[in-house]
Amino acid sequence: MKNIASSLIDLLPKAELHLHIEGTLEPEMMMQLAKRNKVELPYETVEEVRQAYDFSCLQDFLDLYYLGMSVLITEQDFFDLTWAYLQKVHRDRLTHVEMFFDPQPHMDRGIEFDVVLGGITHALEVGRKEFGITSKLIMCFVRHLPEEHAFTALDCACNHKKEIFGVGMDSTEVGIPPRTFQRVFKAAVNQGFIPVAHVGEEGTADDVKEALDLLKIKRVDHGNHALDDAKLVVRLSKDQTPLTMCPISNWRLKVIDDLSQSPIKKALDAGLLVTINSDDPSYFGGYLNDNYRAVQQSLNLDEKDIITLTKNSFKASFLSDYEKQRQLDRVDSQVSRIQQS
Ligand code: ADE
Ligand code: ZN
Repeated sequence: MKNIASSLIDLLPKAELHLHIEGTLEPEMMMQLAKRNKVELPYETVEEVRQAYDFSCLQDFLDLYYLGMSVLITEQDFFDLTWAYLQKVHRDRLTHVEMFFDPQPHMDRGIEFDVVLGGITHALEVGRKEFGITSKLIMCFVRHLPEEHAFTALDCACNHKKEIFGVGMDSTEVGIPPRTFQRVFKAAVNQGFIPVAHVGEEGTADDVKEALDLLKIKRVDHGNHALDDAKLVVRLSKDQTPLTMCPISNWRLKVIDDLSQSPIKKALDAGLLVTINSDDPSYFGGYLNDNYRAVQQSLNLDEKDIITLTKNSFKASFLSDYEKQRQLDRVDSQVSRIQQS
């Protein structure tokens, strides 16, 4: 008989708050799009692509992630990519997603901002109509390009305030501190975008503090190393600043040696508003529920922990209080149904 924690993972409605749409590009689609768009890849087969996904650190992954993106050319490609993700996570009972996209690397290869955004938003609209999945889009600035480049993306985003909810920051972390992007974050906040940032993945607790203090972020993406600083843990707990953690990603990028080292249980026990997410599921080999299952087993999480993490996914979201409550009520009624069955 299946245990309750595992049924809860399979059946509870949940939100995903840390997901790069470009990181959902499955090798099969990469090969198809390369053919359709006549893009040369250094791989002949899907198996060869998969074999290349053996990463020793974040940068190792990023090199392949940016290479993979090169097959995305038309609005239809961005639609197909996003729609494929929504179909997969609908089966995981996802009901809300806050999705990152990285326009700068696409713009750098001559793809227009509106082509990228148009394909993604069209698929999100179909996802809402067909599956009832709600969404918010977060545009990430990439740290490996200069701040001026980020300003170009921000200019484009300002024409799409209805479609883009927030701004984030991702890509290479070590050696590029948050203060490098302080001006563009300030400008984005002045334009009404909600700020978040990838910090403390390979970087330090001090990077997390700097992003909170200078970039005014409302949510910490990853934040593993925040747990190295007891005072920061108290601050994050007191303010209930959410952390979007990605256990399989951490393991595959060697941020942790194995899943039993994931800081998720430690964060839960410290009263942090921690959530489970997939980051780049195609590259790391696990979508949302795979991440829940992986930590449930390796950290021995019980029924209560799974319910807390699922509820945290909505509490940590940027949904309105009304929408949050509606989603939390759905979780509660599904929990009762599972416990009674
Ligand atoms: N871009 C896509 N995934 C990322 C990650 N895990 N860290 C930093 N940048 C990323
Ligand atoms: Zn990420």
